[in-house]
Amino acid sequence: MSFGCKNLSDVTAACERYGCDIKFSNDLSILGVPRQIGHKTAPNRFCVHPMEGCDGTVDGSPSGLTVERYMSFAEGGPGLLWFEAVAVAPEGRASARQLMISDDNLSEFKKLADIIRKKALMENGYAPVLIMQLTHSGRFSRPDGTPRPVIAYHHAELDVRHNISPDLPLVTDAYLDTLPECFARCALLAKKAGFDGVDVKCCHRYLLSELLSATGREGKYGCCFESRTRLLLDCIDAVREAVGADFIVGSRLNGFDALPDGFSCDKADYMKPELSETLELVKILRARGVDILNITTGSPYYNPFVNRPNDVDRQEPPLFGVSRMFRVVGEIQREVPYIPVVGTGYSYLREFVPFAAAGEISAGRCAFAGLGRMSFACPSYPRRVLSGELPPSNQLCTTCGKCAGLLRAGKPSYCVVRNKRVAE
Ligand SMILES: Cc1cc2nc3c(=O)[nH]c(=O)nc-3n(C[C@H](O)[C@H](O)[C@H](O)COP(=O)(O)O)c2cc1C
Ligand code: SF4
Repeated sequence: MSFGCKNLSDVTAACERYGCDIKFSNDLSILGVPRQIGHKTAPNRFCVHPMEGCDGTVDGSPSGLTVERYMSFAEGGPGLLWFEAVAVAPEGRASARQLMISDDNLSEFKKLADIIRKKALMENGYAPVLIMQLTHSGRFSRPDGTPRPVIAYHHAELDVRHNISPDLPLVTDAYLDTLPECFARCALLAKKAGFDGVDVKCCHRYLLSELLSATGREGKYGCCFESRTRLLLDCIDAVREAVGADFIVGSRLNGFDALPDGFSCDKADYMKPELSETLELVKILRARGVDILNITTGSPYYNPFVNRPNDVDRQEPPLFGVSRMFRVVGEIQREVPYIPVVGTGYSYLREFVPFAAAGEISAGRCAFAGLGRMSFACPSYPRRVLSGELPPSNQLCTTCGKCAGLLRAGKPSYCVVRNKRVAE
């Protein structure tokens, strides 16, 4: 029994109690219906969300542990495998073990993409669409294990929380001007490595995401909406030019930040989404040829319960957090109905994930259900649900947060509750 609910009626009653809007369906057939993404077709509606393993080698190549993680994700049968954050520049790495793609280690990424496809084909008879997330960690950069923040602007709460001196100089426009070329170079490498697409990451308050709220920044990347979104759009354009039309270009985007003065937050209550700028931005992204969006919210460094509703960090009823995320995703999908949107926030629902995934997709509120922590705890969830089995609650994510704790400590992340692996 998870979060006090024995069955779906208990969950819907709890939703009513907290004023939640989550769609459920007992008809799970939609989960097995293929969905087009750009020029590719995903064989089903489950997506493994990007999750940093913090287990790369010093030069940013995948290690044995990385390969092991992706083999288990591939075996689990998702239609879409959204590969974790891969740095586009050494100074933008989130840790000394974050993956980073370059000419020198291209062959290692190629080997991994081949292994993922072969393993998936062997176990399930199909391979997932494979998208690599490209990132610059900005404020949260720790390339050698110690903080080396690259900030777009000073933010009172975040600066104090992360010991950033008020004297730290802001990242210059000249440096930001170099990033579209970095994203484009890495996107082309991802294509050469055999990935089907890339994500220009713009979420969780990493560099591109922080710029979206840089209303007080001077120069070409701050102040008005057009300038705050400039770098993201320049990166998207540069990536598209580099990879051509036959490659997926997407973005994992913050629907809203849930932070004081954050992107798309209600001025009177930052925990409430006010989505007018987000909706404007997704229409522009669509017009620029973006093929897919993966929508998330908040920042794991400031308000992890917003992006990862859980039973530990009880700042609000977690079901309410799930519902808020689903609403944000739904509004975005409605604004751009012709591109698939991946929803976030499912793992909290545990054994009720398939019913919510089918309900949300059938209601047109997203095209894919993304699984983050659940993919660590129970990587076989998609395959088993698609074959008619519902894994029991004692095999599922408990939302304890220990995998994220490992990542924050700079250690390889995995599910310490369900997975017996001993991290090296
Ligand atoms: C250990 C860990 C690593 C993560 N790494 C990434 C990442 O590389 N990129 C990203 O966009 N989100 C990352 N996330 C966030 C997840 O993709 C996802 O948004 C979050 O866990 C909520 O989904 P869930 O409720 O299914 O877990 C990470 C989460 C965890 C727990
Ligand atoms: S460590 Fe905890 S939160 Fe992470 S996947 Fe395992 S059960 Fe879920």
